[in-house]
Amino acid sequence: MLISGGAGFLGSYICHALALANDTLFERPCTVSCVDTLVTGSADRIAGLRSRPDFRFIDGSAVDFHGSGAEFIVHAASIASPVIYRRLPLETVEANVIGTWNVLRLAAQGCRSFLYLSSSEVYGDPDDAAIPTREDYVGRVSFTGPRACYDESKRLAETLCRLFFERHAVPVKVARPFNVYGPGLRLDDGRVIPDLIRQALAGGELVLHSDGTPTRSFCYVTDAIAAFFGLLACDADGEAFNVGAPHEVSMRELAEKLAALTGGRAVTSRPSEDSRYLTDSPRRRLPDITKIQRALDWLPLVSLDEGLSRTIRAYGVQA
Ligand SMILES: NC(=O)c1ccc[n+]([C@@H]2O[C@H](COP(=O)([O-])OP(=O)(O)OC[C@H]3O[C@@H](n4cnc5c(N)ncnc54)[C@H](O)[C@@H]3O)[C@@H](O)[C@H]2O)c1
Repeated sequence: MLISGGAGFLGSYICHALALANDTLFERPCTVSCVDTLVTGSADRIAGLRSRPDFRFIDGSAVDFHGSGAEFIVHAASIASPVIYRRLPLETVEANVIGTWNVLRLAAQGCRSFLYLSSSEVYGDPDDAAIPTREDYVGRVSFTGPRACYDESKRLAETLCRLFFERHAVPVKVARPFNVYGPGLRLDDGRVIPDLIRQALAGGELVLHSDGTPTRSFCYVTDAIAAFFGLLACDADGEAFNVGAPHEVSMRELAEKLAALTGGRAVTSRPSEDSRYLTDSPRRRLPDITKIQRALDWLPLVSLDEGLSRTIRAYGVQA
């Protein structure tokens, strides 16, 4: 197994799940190679795996990684935090476009299955008529705005997946995760849940940088990881699947839930210091998950309340 971005939030869960499967489930253990530049990942996440004979960490980039021979590939390398990809836009495009091209080229030499972690951001800011959003929605996306480096490079990466499937028969499946969260997200990551938890831990009020009405849907990490393994094991080559929870939650509702779970803090709205913080930010996010439900019989199992409680507890706060 090759996991690019394996020291990231999602990639490291995949590495740990494989180690557990090697210990308890697989008749023939697999060897896991984790390739990561650590640009946003953390060596701590995989520290417990480094001494295992079935695990290898490669400090390198998906962009020019040459090793191959992997039977299964999960390509999770990217810069995924909105705050960080604005700071490193070219590196974000490079990981998503050149990195995806390179890893697909390795897969074209022969692999049994390839999973690409794309993003719900390929849909941009959908029209209300496209909520809940199905996989065949083509999106409403700015190609020059402050989020374009991420959204557009994820779209081009999906085009590459499709082309390598059509021209080189790479058995690629594409997952489009919708806001996956859980223990292990870096508190300085800039995504909304760790951001609000960080504020709660600091003892202050919870600050929203919008009027609280934009919505997202939040999927607990164990549910997402189960979907990723299901997709890797299925034969829906060339297909893309939404991976998310079928519940729409406003930013204000989310903040109020977190405030209640962390001791009743106040929630306020205040514009971000970054005047373009909300530019092109989607107003609504809600996946239609009929396709993955039919293909894998998959449904998220962990409720938002339960998932948030587990996440907060993991940061050492009694929820
Ligand atoms: N977590 C989510 O909610 C979510 C939602 C949609 C899409 N995704 C996608 O899932 C994937 C994993 O996301 P995550 O939440 O774990 O983010 P993350 O930032 O925690 O992990 C990404 C990892 O990729 C590594 N990386 C970046 N550029 C690299 C390169 N060129 N070569 C090798 N490694 C590189 C980073 O160091 C990091 O460890 C990303 O592709 C992301 O776009 C995540």
